[in-house]
Amino acid sequence: MQKTVLTYGTFDLFHIGHLSLLQRLRALGDRLIVGVSTDEFNEIKGKKTVVPFSDRIEIVGALRCVDLAIPEENWEQKVGDIQRHNIAVFGMGSDWEGRFDELKLHCEVVYLPRTEGVSSTHIRKTLKVLDRSHVRELKQALDLISSIVERFD
Ligand code: CTP
Repeated sequence: MQKTVLTYGTFDLFHIGHLSLLQRLRALGDRLIVGVSTDEFNEIKGKKTVVPFSDRIEIVGALRCVDLAIPEENWEQKVGDIQRHNIAVFGMGSDWEGRFDELKLHCEVVYLPRTEGVSSTHIRKTLKVLDRSHVRELKQALDLISSIVERFD
């Protein structure tokens, strides 16, 4: 019988940490199903993405290691998804360690190590720093500082 693995995530600004996690999860079984958080669900979680849900689910669903991408709309859908898709393994990155242990009643639960040094939050922050208006603000601050320093010359 086929062994199906399930995971969930936002996958904003898809990066190497996402790819590595999905490839490692897929290697635990024969099929990988990925729940991609909708924009409405992210709002509940207090997360604002750069890339909209329709694009994020299309990107994740197009990966060779992903067999099916489904919407993640709330915290409560996991048990229903596990039963509906006959899931053998539920897996997340280690930042979620212990958070889904109650699912052990329904399938195997694993937490895999995160890839160091990369996250959507970090990329979002970098983009903000590079934003034109932010660079303008920094330049104005620098001009102000040099005009103050000049007074003490
Ligand atoms: N993940 C990972 N390694 C990373 C970043 C994420 O293994 N460097 C995993 C997470 O543990 C999670 C999945 O990828 O199981 C989806 O995570 P997501 O929250 O979408 O990615 P992050 O980059 O952590 O996003 P954010 O910074 O917005 O939380």
